[in-house]
Amino acid sequence: MKQKLEEIRAAAVAELSSADADLEALRIRFLGKKGELTAVLRGMGQLTAEERPVIGQLANEVREYIENAIAEKAETQKTAALAKKLEEERLDVTMPGKAPEIGKRHPLAQVQKDMEDIFIGMGFSIVEGPEVEYDYYNFQALNIPENHPARDTQDTFYITENILLRSQTSPVQVRTMEKQRPPIRIISPGRVYRSDAVDASHSPLFHQLEGLVVDKGITMGDLKGTLETFAKTMFGEQTQIRFRPHHFPFTEPSAEVDVSCFVCGGKGCKLCKGEGWIEILGAGMVHPNVLRGCNIDPDEYSGFAFGMGVERITMIKYGIDDMRYLYENDVRFLNQF
Ligand code: DAH
Repeated sequence: MKQKLEEIRAAAVAELSSADADLEALRIRFLGKKGELTAVLRGMGQLTAEERPVIGQLANEVREYIENAIAEKAETQKTAALAKKLEEERLDVTMPGKAPEIGKRHPLAQVQKDMEDIFIGMGFSIVEGPEVEYDYYNFQALNIPENHPARDTQDTFYITENILLRSQTSPVQVRTMEKQRPPIRIISPGRVYRSDAVDASHSPLFHQLEGLVVDKGITMGDLKGTLETFAKTMFGEQTQIRFRPHHFPFTEPSAEVDVSCFVCGGKGCKLCKGEGWIEILGAGMVHPNVLRGCNIDPDEYSGFAFGMGVERITMIKYGIDDMRYLYENDVRFLNQF
């Protein structure tokens, strides 16, 4: 029996020498109720009175020995598992971080914001108008006659006979003057729609920024000074502006306004197509009919208005020669701004 006990101890030692020994299985096998040690103790009855305490003591010793060995092994396994986990989850805090990619404004949105900021700096406030508009505001109230080509369904998207997608931001002028008494000093940026096929310089959806000032004693000089400040801030201090006579139904007199080419300074280059000047907007003194239609007395008040394309200003400023780039959302293009 003594020998049997020593064999059990030796077997336990052998089993526990393996690094990934299953400790619970070994505990059951050696120390459990149906385990090897218990089986030996069950045979104690056959021993003599002298042998019994000796074997009993040895059996207890072996049990304690195996218990301790298992506990020790458990400790070793725990330490090893932790070391392994630490190794696997190692974090090198000195490694350079992965910079999160931060987006930025689309060039059109950025230029529109730049334009807004320039006018806000001159005391203008921003108003918005609806993109789905009445014929009345888009045309009639702007002194655009019934037979004007812009009213043709070829050029304008009609929703019903008298509701359309606005073809310009100018209707916001009328909406503002109906609600607000002079002094008025507003800009109105936004989307406009025209029934045009897409090409390098056309899109059925584009953006304009409208401006309107109405007060006592407003003159063409005020218009000129305002647009000159805009042009110099947008394109550079050396920029000159030039007014060319033009016709718009809602202004009288009307003008198209050019800026001196900021690339060649007026000598002629690719950007200005050899002209030295680049057209940027339409403008004029608000037509008395438009003022009258909004219950503003043209003998007491006068005003100026202007309207420009955000795409156009963006393309000029950045030398973009095809408008379609602005809508394709190709990051290789967008990342350049
Ligand atoms: N609405 C005109 C257009 O779309 C631009 C324009 C011209 C606006 C003269 C104005 C203006 O306010 O006075 O072509």
